[in-house]
Parts: sequence; C-alpha cells; structure tokens
Amino acid sequence: MSDPATSPQPGVPPQPTLRDGDLVLRPWSFDDVEAARLQHDDEIAHWFGFPEAIPPAEKQRKAIERWHADYADGRKVVSFVVEHRRNLAGTVEVKQRPDEVGELSWAIFPRHRGQGLATRAVRLLIDYSFGELGLSRVQAYAEPQNLASLRTAGRAGLRREGIVRGREEARGERRPYVQLARLATDPEPTSPLGFRAVLNAGLPTKRVIAQGLGRNSAGGVLLCELTYKREWDLPGGVVDPHESPAHAVVREIREELGVDMTVAGLTAVNWLPAWRGWDDACLFVFDLGVHDDGLVQTATLEPREIRALHWCSLEQVGEHGAAYLTRMLTRLLHPPAARIGTAYLEDGADPT
Ligand SMILES: CC(C)(COP(=O)(O)OP(=O)(O)OC[C@H]1O[C@@H](n2cnc3c(N)ncnc32)[C@H](O)[C@@H]1OP(=O)(O)O)[C@@H](O)C(=O)NCCC(=O)NCCS
Repeated sequence: MSDPATSPQPGVPPQPTLRDGDLVLRPWSFDDVEAARLQHDDEIAHWFGFPEAIPPAEKQRKAIERWHADYADGRKVVSFVVEHRRNLAGTVEVKQRPDEVGELSWAIFPRHRGQGLATRAVRLLIDYSFGELGLSRVQAYAEPQNLASLRTAGRAGLRREGIVRGREEARGERRPYVQLARLATDPEPTSPLGFRAVLNAGLPTKRVIAQGLGRNSAGGVLLCELTYKREWDLPGGVVDPHESPAHAVVREIREELGVDMTVAGLTAVNWLPAWRGWDDACLFVFDLGVHDDGLVQTATLEPREIRALHWCSLEQVGEHGAAYLTRMLTRLLHPPAARIGTAYLEDGADPT
C-alpha cells in the first residue's frame, strides 16, 4: 500500500525524518500497524482514555490514515513514529492551531520506557515545531497524577503554568489537567537558566501575610475594626510577589492607616492552616513598638477597608478577634519563661 505522507502534497513539504543519535522520528507507514498496536498497554489506554489496551488493527490503520491526511492538510497534525535502534518504541505528535500554538502529546511503549526516550523524542519534536513549523508556543496537558508525563514535559523544557479545572472528560467525569508550555524564546532546558525556570515554575508557592504588633503605654494592642469581616485584626496584609514581609507590613500600614511605622524586630512566625476556603499561609508578626494613645484618632483610615482603630486588652481581643489571634496574642504577651524570643507558632499556639 502507498504511504501518502511520503509523496509531497501541493504546498506541503514531505514529512521529514528527525534524528538524535540512535533515536529517530519518522513518518508513519502502514507497515507499522501490528508493531504499534500490539505494544500499547493499560497505561496508555488509561491516560489517553482509550476503551481498550490493545487497539484493533483496523483502528490503528485508520489512525495512520488520519495522520497522513492531517499532515497533507497543511500539517494540521504531525505525528511521528519514535524509533530506537530500528525498533518501534512509541509516538509523538504536534497538533497545530491557527495561532502559532502547537499541542503536543507523547507515548513510549512499555519495554522502551525509563531510558530517556520520551525526553529525547519530545525535545526533537519541539525543535521541529519551532523550526520547521515556525510555532511560537508549544503546550501540553497532563493529569496531576501522571507523574511520568509531567516529568517528561519538564525535561523537555515545558513550564508548569497552572491547573485547568474540568478541562476534559476522562473516566466518567470532567477532570483537572496541568497546563505546561514552552515558548520559542525560552532558554534551552539544558542551560542553567532554562533548567531553573522549569523547576521554579513547578515549585509550591505559599501565601505570606505580614502584620504588626503595636502597643500603647498601657499595654493595649492596636487592632483594626474592618469593613469586610466581623473579626478585628492586627494591622498589615498580604505580602506581594517579590516583596519582603517587613516591607509589606510598613506599606500596608501606610496605605490603610496613613501612618509611617518602623519595624523593631520579628515577634513571631505563625503558620495558619487552611480555613474557610482560604489556603494555608505563613503569618509574620513584627514588633511595631509603643505608640501614642492618640494614634487611633489621628490615623487617616482607608475607608473601604478600615472602620476604626482600637487599643485592646487581651480580654477585648478575645471578644472581637478570631480565636487564633487571641491564642497568639496571649502567647506573645505572656511568653512562658523558657520561650522568650521570636516565637514559632502553628494556628496561634506552640506546636505540640
Ligand atoms: C510518559 C512516558 C511517555 C514517559 O516515557 P519514558 O521514555 O519512560 O520517559 P523518560 O525515560 O524520558 O523519562 C522522563 C522523566 O520521567 C520520569 N519518569 C518516567 N517514568 C516515571 C514514572 N512512572 N513515575 C515518575 N517519573 C517517571 C523519569 O525519571 C524522567 O525524569 P528524570 O529525567 O528527572 O529522571 C511513558 O511513561 C508513557 O508512554 N506513558 C503513557 C502515555 C502518557 O501518559 N502520555 C501522555 C498523555 S498526556
């Protein structure tokens, strides 16, 4: 049987064969039907949502026919056989969108896994996508549990961009997928900068909050009465990306209270577990020193957020503040003798 991909179509160059040492990406041939379909396994069926582990010969043949047709039709999809030392080892493909974006997918057959073939094959495919196809961006989607694919993507320089919720139906429900992408302008994943960028994109980021503990001469603690929640709280707020916690508390107090304060030291770090739909966070509590009683009248409050300021005793903190705040301030204002100095707390208390 003739292989349409090997005969040039009008305006479309013949599909090339790409090489990296003993690894070759080449066009599909109908001679590949048996070798390809018999090497499929449950893992491929699971992640691609195929109904059977070994596809019937007719289905594999039709897939090859479709890849040839899609290639001829403006290279809408370019699918390659991955061949390693002349053995059919898997497949990679890029599906072109009209906006210079290509969607990648890959599979390596079971007995060829764990030798770095997916990494090498996807890197070749990406070079082809940016080079011959002229794409600006390649992207891929993998389920969060598909660790081998997430790792393959990273090794090929695709950076994690986030979770697309309910992206696709798989195994009876709409599931979340990790979106990964590489731009033509990104540094090579083998360069120090490229390697760090891929790792950096995949590392967890934790929310950081910076607040200040200011007191008056009678030992009262400065609390803000807020417009957006019932509980009174210490002044401060969420630390911006690339901002230090100490800078954030000074900035927040200037923005919300119209007062310039300086940080005298770090009083506590308090890890807050996830709560009422908020993710967990690290709260830095800074010592703001002792202030004049008149501060609560003279401050220029940001009216969208702050209704009033109060000097509070611990009893008043208990009446108006959240439970963790009361625990934390009780611990900080009356530290046990053995625990003088900066405190490390979890949910307002010494960890057990
Ligand atoms: C994903 C797949 C292509 C990887 O093929 P492979 O040739 O074994 O991959 P490589 O040898 O190039 O390894 C790539 C990375 O994945 C890691 N990896 C491979 N298998 C893994 C596994 N089961 N669990 C965790 N990590 C794994 C490797 O250690 C390597 O990372 P490292 O270089 O940091 O050590 C293969 O497992 C597969 O075909 N899976 C089913 C199909 C699939 O899920 N396709 C993607 C659909 S989106």
